[in-house]
Amino acid sequence: MRLENKVSIITGAASGMGKAIAILYAKEGAKVVVSDINLEAANNTVEEIKSNGGEAIAVMANVAKEEDIQNLVDTAVETYGTLDILVNNAGIMDNFEPAGDIEDDKWERVFAINTTSVMRATRKALPIFIEKKNGVIINIASAGGLQGARAGAAYTASKHAVVGFTKNTGFMYAKKGIRCNAIAPGAVETNISSSMTGVNSFGMERIQPGLAINPRLGKPEDIATIALFLATDESSFVNGTVITGDAGWTAY
Ligand SMILES: NC(=O)c1ccc[n+]([C@@H]2O[C@H](COP(=O)([O-])OP(=O)(O)OC[C@H]3O[C@@H](n4cnc5c(N)ncnc54)[C@H](O)[C@@H]3O)[C@@H](O)[C@H]2O)c1
Repeated sequence: MRLENKVSIITGAASGMGKAIAILYAKEGAKVVVSDINLEAANNTVEEIKSNGGEAIAVMANVAKEEDIQNLVDTAVETYGTLDILVNNAGIMDNFEPAGDIEDDKWERVFAINTTSVMRATRKALPIFIEKKNGVIINIASAGGLQGARAGAAYTASKHAVVGFTKNTGFMYAKKGIRCNAIAPGAVETNISSSMTGVNSFGMERIQPGLAINPRLGKPEDIATIALFLATDESSFVNGTVITGDAGWTAY
């Protein structure tokens, strides 16, 4: 098993890619802290892991809240004794709004969940990783964190920020046994569209031509295998960078 006895936290692990990562990590021997704002659904992920012989607990955390992040990492350490792998996965879409149509509260919500949470969870995990001279951080960015029009302006900016934060963190702690990388998924079949509350028609019209060149949709498991690679020592020379998983969509 590739993650035997490793302790991992995965945010947004009640659905989609987070769930697939949690299930795969547990299958590979990791102890998994399945975290989500939706505790009931997080418990379902835990039940699935346990029924396959894996080890996991569910912890409710709204990643937009500092106290929830504190509690999440503290609970992981209290339960399993340490932390080895942090996967910052929780995220929401915007409504494809271009700059002229952005509302402040939506912008702030997208940044709080997609970006500030990544900084806060990383900040909280770092002292543990620094002390043990070992640790892995994996941030789920997006093709929208690399390209200009895979979503609206708020989502695009929030994920570009995650990419910059990933590179900075990877470089800063490179000599301390800590690696920080991001994954940029293309379009993956998950429940993320449920975080959209009404599509901006102008933004959607501008995005449409790009959607047409997408070779195919991915499954959450297509991203989980990348997250497994990044969590193991097989990727020990990979740090401060982004692995794209999009069937070639952004290669155009
Ligand atoms: N699906 C795609 O096409 C796609 C593409 C690129 C990047 N992503 C990114 O992948 C990540 C996972 O998304 P997904 O597609 O699996 O979506 P999903 O909606 O299936 O899962 C996201 C999970 O995050 C949880 N969540 C939402 N807000 C939260 C909060 N404030 N605190 C804690 N948990 C919260 C949800 O309850 C849900 O369980 C996101 O960061 C998303 O931006 C998705």
